[in-house]
Amino acid sequence: MIPVREAPIGVFDSGVGGLTVAREIMRQIPKERIVYFGDTARVPYGTKSQDTVIRYSRQIARFLRTRNVKAIVIACNTASAYALETLKEELELPIMGVVKPGARVAARASTGGNIGVIATEATVGSHIYRDYIQSLRPGARVCEKACPLFVSLVEEGWLKDPVTEAVAERYLQEMKERRVDTLILGCTHYPLIRSTVRKVIGEEVTLVNPAYETAIELRELLRREGMDNQGHNKTEENPYEFFVSDAAERFKAFANSILPFDITSTRQINIEEY
Ligand code: DGL
Repeated sequence: MIPVREAPIGVFDSGVGGLTVAREIMRQIPKERIVYFGDTARVPYGTKSQDTVIRYSRQIARFLRTRNVKAIVIACNTASAYALETLKEELELPIMGVVKPGARVAARASTGGNIGVIATEATVGSHIYRDYIQSLRPGARVCEKACPLFVSLVEEGWLKDPVTEAVAERYLQEMKERRVDTLILGCTHYPLIRSTVRKVIGEEVTLVNPAYETAIELRELLRREGMDNQGHNKTEENPYEFFVSDAAERFKAFANSILPFDITSTRQINIEEY
């Protein structure tokens, strides 16, 4: 048994998008090992019911436990919205999502309390961002908008494409009319089209990437719990492991386009067994 401090962090998402969160954890807490799971067989979660997303998330948590993770980060906004509270009750290890860190930073950063949230249909339908922001900052106005096409456009690699820009113009029209001062990129894929969103929404709007704040809160949580890896095990050759439920090669190609290094292997597992 390796000491708890040296155990990996489990990070999961419905697919590739959570790599934007893993990337942030790698940047900000480089001593930590990561076991990443992308549910590429069952993506998207953003159009599924809460019951289904809870069932999927439970299975993934069970799988991650078999890899001896010391904590779990739900890197998916939809699963954070739908399954975090249930998993918190069921698991006896620390678990966090991306929604609360994102909402906290937006509530703090907003100059006029006029905040926009773009996310999947499920996250928007749950109103979790709105409710949490308003509990932190009563009186804040929160405009939520589902932008489902962004996920496909990102996966197609059209990050700075005129089509993506035209779609963004349409989705963000209401945000512009309402003059939001802060906009949360409330879906794992959206930070990858940040420059297009920036171009459309304008320079004066603060863009919030929940992944950034999540990594900071994770670092604090690990310290608080006395679980932070202090680098004793730096001989570890492969600090990052990747698992998927389907299409491992496609995942690998996407991962290599957004991570600062090339991943050597991605293993496919049958998540329905967990
Ligand atoms: N990972 C999802 C999220 O952040 C987006 C993709 C999906 O719908 O599964 O909400």
